Amino acid sequence: MLIHNNERFIVNNEFAKEVESGLNDKQKHISPKFFYDKKGSKLFEEICKQPEYYLNRTESQILKNSVDKILKIIGDEEISLVELGNGNSLKTRILLEPMLAGIKNVFYFPIDVSLKMLKKSISNLFSEYSNLKIYGVCSDYVTGLVKINHFIKSKKNIPKRKFIIFLGSSIGNFDPKEAQIFLSSISRYVKKNDLLLIGIDLEKDKSILDRAYNDKNGITAKFNLNVLSRINKELDGEFKLSNFEHESFYNTSKHRIEMHLISKIDQQVRIRSIGKTFQFKKGETIHTENSYKYSLNRLEKLVDRSGLQVVKNFVDPNKQYTLILLKKILNTAKS
Ligand code: TRP
Repeated sequence: MLIHNNERFIVNNEFAKEVESGLNDKQKHISPKFFYDKKGSKLFEEICKQPEYYLNRTESQILKNSVDKILKIIGDEEISLVELGNGNSLKTRILLEPMLAGIKNVFYFPIDVSLKMLKKSISNLFSEYSNLKIYGVCSDYVTGLVKINHFIKSKKNIPKRKFIIFLGSSIGNFDPKEAQIFLSSISRYVKKNDLLLIGIDLEKDKSILDRAYNDKNGITAKFNLNVLSRINKELDGEFKLSNFEHESFYNTSKHRIEMHLISKIDQQVRIRSIGKTFQFKKGETIHTENSYKYSLNRLEKLVDRSGLQVVKNFVDPNKQYTLILLKKILNTAKS
């Protein structure tokens, strides 16, 4: 197993700096990357099981229903499966199993910034598929992809052709400009015969979206509020969680779910390790997350501007979600 253990860990220092500058802005904000401590990651797994949160279930269903078609397009040529942000690799199994059965040489390269997550999912996969060749890459996605390209080039027995997957509608957590920049940089490291599969939530009725991010059991609320507990724990903060409330709603004109934490009262909160006290007016919010929703039309424009083209859209029967299969647009004869 090869682990590139490098740069991109969030150290408390970075956490403190970002919290300080975010809480000093006019519209207060905290980056969603800080949601995922141990408790946050557990809560996120819980979110995926909530009846209102259709995204995860729908994506798995589409994968199950389309895996044969996807594999047919890939063919039986040996392949390196690259996964951006593998989480717990549950959905990956839907693809991996038939790939291992039908393709002679399959390598799996999960890329994740969290070494812990990576180690855990790799050891789980190893115990289930003893013959699977896995190389975990601990890094941000683009750097990881560059490293994998070098690695593939330098070793003889590793499949040259890549199948890159990016699931969970994570691309929707970038704003559209960032998403385009991200996809453009990915496309730079994709070759002629490589394929890319991205899961994206589609725009739909506001009431369905509002419900998905406001589950009855209050798990999304807990997940959102957990970022304040994390500040209390790691930065010696004095947030009283009961003085804040989870809010999330679909902003139709911006095509996005916005997640906020609303201050229920006028209050001030000290964060000791930053050495500052922050003021909150009653009703003022901390913006914690966006989740953009796409129409197929806007999605295709985004893809097109990023140097990629649609091979096929795999949409569920209710048109809630799509898995979009992409390849590189070739301008010249070169890949
Ligand atoms: N990308 C998924 C989504 O937008 C998962 C996710 C990210 C999420 N942050 C979240 C889900 C916050 C609920 C709350 O839905």
